[in-house]
Amino acid sequence: MEKNQSTVFSSQLQLKQPYIFLYYLLVIEVTIISTQKTDKLLLRCLNGETLNPPPIWLMRQAGRYLPEYMDIRSSVTNFLDLCYNSDLATEITLQPIRRFGFDAAIIFSDILVLPDALGQKVDFKSGIGPVLKPIRSRNQIGELRKVCEQEILKPVYESISKVAASLGPGVALIGFAGAPWTVATYMVEGGSSKGFNYVKNWAISDPEGFGELIKKLIESTTVHLTKQIEAGAEVIQIFDSWAGILSPSEFQRWCVEPVAEVVRSIKVDYPEIPIIGFPKGAGLSYEGYAEKTGVDGVSVDYTVSPAWMGQTLQRKTAVQGNLDPHILQVGGSVMINEVSKIKKSLENGPFIFNLGHGILPDTPPINVSHLIELVRDP
Ligand code: CP3
Repeated sequence: MEKNQSTVFSSQLQLKQPYIFLYYLLVIEVTIISTQKTDKLLLRCLNGETLNPPPIWLMRQAGRYLPEYMDIRSSVTNFLDLCYNSDLATEITLQPIRRFGFDAAIIFSDILVLPDALGQKVDFKSGIGPVLKPIRSRNQIGELRKVCEQEILKPVYESISKVAASLGPGVALIGFAGAPWTVATYMVEGGSSKGFNYVKNWAISDPEGFGELIKKLIESTTVHLTKQIEAGAEVIQIFDSWAGILSPSEFQRWCVEPVAEVVRSIKVDYPEIPIIGFPKGAGLSYEGYAEKTGVDGVSVDYTVSPAWMGQTLQRKTAVQGNLDPHILQVGGSVMINEVSKIKKSLENGPFIFNLGHGILPDTPPINVSHLIELVRDP
């Protein structure tokens, strides 16, 4: 009887052995994963790690070059209705991730939701772009709300939580806002502009009055970004698309100082959330921007040479960029050469592959697949 029992026991043990082995494997695996800080390449890079091949995502990766975006776009007239519908915004954010497998998703929204939530209604008119009732004096700043209307922005934060819940393990989620200066250009000009007469002249003739508008934008941008982090954004990008129209001293006052203030305030509560700054067109001022704003990474436009980025900027910060979107649109051998040049120049430090500005609407999606293959080719 006893013998029988022990035979049964040992045969049970034999049966269990593969499971015990698998169990130990699992324990080892979990230990390795938990001692590695993160498996998200974008976060590792912004933490200062050099990765070859580099992580890749593209500005405006969700948008008009994708037929699946155009399908959803045709269901609404005003573009902002997409941003304020968290189910549609979630779906649009995920479209390029599913199609191309980027290393990061950027939440589908717009920098102009901020003035909209401050009470300066924004319309997107087809063939024109954004249209706002302009604010051009200190008195008119008083017509804005004291703080952003949270009911308006709530869907943006909901989209972030929904996207965060459905992203694969290696994909980082980026939240964003416009920098105070760039958002101010749209608020003062009343939309897109060529000459920037009103905003430049106001900033030159009445810097204190204009400074009130920037102060309001610093405060509301900080709140908007903090709420995005609370909803699940793991990285923040600050878009300063019109930094390049400022003189060096104006750049310091209207671009560097406001962005530094936003970064400082966010880092008080969220020191571990990396922030990327994109002062488009900054030229010689990129270096000072990297030193003085406190950002963890600098996104660089396509007018800057990758060699200079590698030799100068990358010594101070993680860099992101900077393929010309027109080269992506054309594709082929020009793109092959340019990608190889960018990779070679930036392989010795933390680098995120991106464009020097957003994807153009007529870009063939097949060129994006080809670009990703080139970037990931060791
Ligand atoms: O990158 C992404 O995929 C996320 C979504 C995103 C959009 N706008 C969607 C969008 C992001 C990050 C932005 C940022 C943004 N918005 C910037 C900074 C970056 C830049 O391009 O310089 C600026 C200046 C804006 C303001 C804005 N939004 C303008 C001037 C326009 C009209 C011009 C244009 O490109 O159509 C938009 C519209 C807009 N924002 C579209 C998208 C997909 C196209 C709207 C449409 O489908 O009709």
